[in-house]
Amino acid sequence: MIMEARAVTKVFGATHALKGVDFAVEAGRVTALFGENGAGKSTLMKILAGIEQPTTGELELDGEPIAFGSPRAAADRGVVIIHQELSLFPNLSVADNLFMARERVRHGVMVDDRAQRDTAAALLQRLEEPIDPRTDVSELRLGQQQIVEIARALAQDARVLIMDEPTSALSAAEVEVLFRIIRELTADGVAIVYISHHLEEALEIADHVVVLRDGGLVAEAEAADVNLAWIVEHMVGRSQDELFPEDHAETGAELLRIRDLSVADPRNPGRLSVDGVSLTVRAGEIVGLYGLMGAGRTELLEALAGRLRVVSGEIDIDGDMIEGPVSARIARGLALVPEDRQRDGLVQSMSVGQNLSLSGLRRFIRGPLVSADKERTAVTTMMRDVTVKASGPDAPITSLSGGNQQKVVLGKALLTQPRVLLLDEPTRGIDVGAKADIFTLMTDLAGRGVAVLFATSELDEALHVPDRLLVMAKGKVVREVRRGTSSREEIMVASEGGER
Ligand SMILES: Nc1ncnc2c1ncn2[C@@H]1O[C@H](COP(=O)(O)OP(=O)(O)OP(=O)(O)O)[C@@H](O)[C@H]1O
Ligand SMILES: [Mg+2]
Repeated sequence: MIMEARAVTKVFGATHALKGVDFAVEAGRVTALFGENGAGKSTLMKILAGIEQPTTGELELDGEPIAFGSPRAAADRGVVIIHQELSLFPNLSVADNLFMARERVRHGVMVDDRAQRDTAAALLQRLEEPIDPRTDVSELRLGQQQIVEIARALAQDARVLIMDEPTSALSAAEVEVLFRIIRELTADGVAIVYISHHLEEALEIADHVVVLRDGGLVAEAEAADVNLAWIVEHMVGRSQDELFPEDHAETGAELLRIRDLSVADPRNPGRLSVDGVSLTVRAGEIVGLYGLMGAGRTELLEALAGRLRVVSGEIDIDGDMIEGPVSARIARGLALVPEDRQRDGLVQSMSVGQNLSLSGLRRFIRGPLVSADKERTAVTTMMRDVTVKASGPDAPITSLSGGNQQKVVLGKALLTQPRVLLLDEPTRGIDVGAKADIFTLMTDLAGRGVAVLFATSELDEALHVPDRLLVMAKGKVVREVRRGTSSREEIMVASEGGER
């Protein structure tokens, strides 16, 4: 036992985020922490890592009582956290980001740039991600940023390494690399706490599992003794089978048509990230885009939304060509929920309600009188529709758990009343129960005639949610299947760029 939290509570205003939790961290083992959005996982981890102070309760390190006044103090004693929300500085290089936290271990002597770059390169090599350490973080895709975040934690030689949703933007291959490193670390005696809404993945790497619900510890077991159903049951009291929607909407007339669309690769302008894609989505239809990292799904959606310039091709809604800036496209009924929701989706200094009404304002202003009441009603209704757990519309956005912030971004797009809704990985970082809610919401929207196009890297979602699934590989649509007519293997082979 390296570290222990005893009877820890945490109160934020009216919210009791933790209600007397005992939690132990064991050397050389992976403890997976499960719980719905807002269950208190990140709060407990922030307390272990010195970011938050417990309201009551004790922490022990190596059997001695301890109170960390800051994350720096925790890191000095070997307790390091990889954050759920990326905390890198986008305008600094990868190397600068990596060593911002590491200066301390060099006995007060600044490390020279060259040595830093070499160490950075070695770390990235270990993570099998050959990024030049001089690259600005802002130029990296989301998954690469997440890897830099992991590298930064590795640079700190932790004894207790807390990973809060480390893989939400990683590809399957990148997750494999991370798992190899986790096994190396535990073999060296490092204690790992692992949080993920990707339950299968977390169960695969875990030695011990702990489930939180509503700020309390509800179940604990050895990983070998439990299965997915056990975890889901303790998290939400709803079975995994009920995750995917039963009903599907009638599809109507063709609403979105894309003809021969090509988009340059934003990171490698000489190449195409989307290469001559044509597709249609009907009113009431849900179309999925499945593919591996780099297949071009995000670039396709961003180009449709007007965030990336197209090289060639045409986009029509209802037969009318769509072009121009993002706002013009929103006005024409096209909305995108982006992949990188932290950066693109939310204004951190505003409340939940303000964030929600940001993009919907157009609608409120159009009415005969701009009524604050009307706006507030729409906002609270939306909070309920997307099941945001918050004290109310006035809660600061930063007071919401990671998954609940994601739901706010979704709500924001819905308030523009889109006719064509584009969703990039809509369930990233969202708990199983809320995933089901989001699928139901998508189906409801389709039922009201909205055309939904969504990208996913989850095979189960790809197989069960969309009416039609398009598999992308290397910028092209390589396969199209209707729901229930294809196997996991077929889809996987196609996404590797296999047969057409
Ligand atoms: N700084 C804060 N101010 C007010 N409330 C907060 C603050 N941080 C967390 N909370 C509240 O504490 C509760 C637990 O949040 P926490 O972030 O620990 O959840 P979580 O289990 O990590 O969820 P997720 O899976 O969505 O990341 C939530 O109700 C959240 O709104
Ligand atoms: Mg969290």
